[in-house]
Amino acid sequence: MNERTFHPRDAHRLEDPERLKWLPPEEVLARIGPVSGMTIADVGTGTGYFALPFATAVGSRGRILAVDFQKEMLEMLREKLSGSGAPQNVVLVEGEARRTTLSGNSCDLVFMSNLWHELDDEAGVLLEVKRLLRPGGRLAILDWRADVVPPPGPPAAHRVSRENLRQVLSRHGWPVTHAGNAGKYSYLLIAGLPAI
Ligand SMILES: C[S@@+](CC[C@H](N)C(=O)[O-])C[C@H]1O[C@@H](n2cnc3c(N)ncnc32)[C@H](O)[C@@H]1O
Repeated sequence: MNERTFHPRDAHRLEDPERLKWLPPEEVLARIGPVSGMTIADVGTGTGYFALPFATAVGSRGRILAVDFQKEMLEMLREKLSGSGAPQNVVLVEGEARRTTLSGNSCDLVFMSNLWHELDDEAGVLLEVKRLLRPGGRLAILDWRADVVPPPGPPAAHRVSRENLRQVLSRHGWPVTHAGNAGKYSYLLIAGLPAI
């Protein structure tokens, strides 16, 4: 935890119906292209804003591993998953991004939405992602644009620009295959596994 960590009392912001307009999950999913049968780790899942649409996209043969280190956030997601018609292929995992507790070589995609700017140990997290991904797996990171003035979102001083993140990924050997803005206030970077 640090001063940038999202507070569970603000969870209503993640569920604000307006968010569906300025950050449509279907736009983000269309860029990533989840397919039936995939296993996706949604690290920093919060209330599952993306975990649920991913769950529908991967279908009953696929799985979403919804990871968060705050129990309160996972409880809110558990509540959503208990509703009628909720997907049954979401597994809740209490874990920290550097030590998710997930099995190695188990994921086709690791997704992080609005988590990156809250992290302290980027290198440690990238090592964990590398451990989780199967050959050909991808890492998709969505976060707040630094060139847009808040609100909504965290203070400008907490934001990591798209270019900065791209440089971090390159420095650690992750080839970026997609970089673009997403919705009104966010960007999305997709990277493949490092060669070594
Ligand atoms: C801003 S919320 C985003 C939630 C969700 N991804 C979304 O876009 O709606 C960030 C989430 O990441 C979690 N988180 C922050 N740091 C984490 C870490 N180091 N390991 C695991 N989860 C973390 C927080 O508990 C919070 O639920």
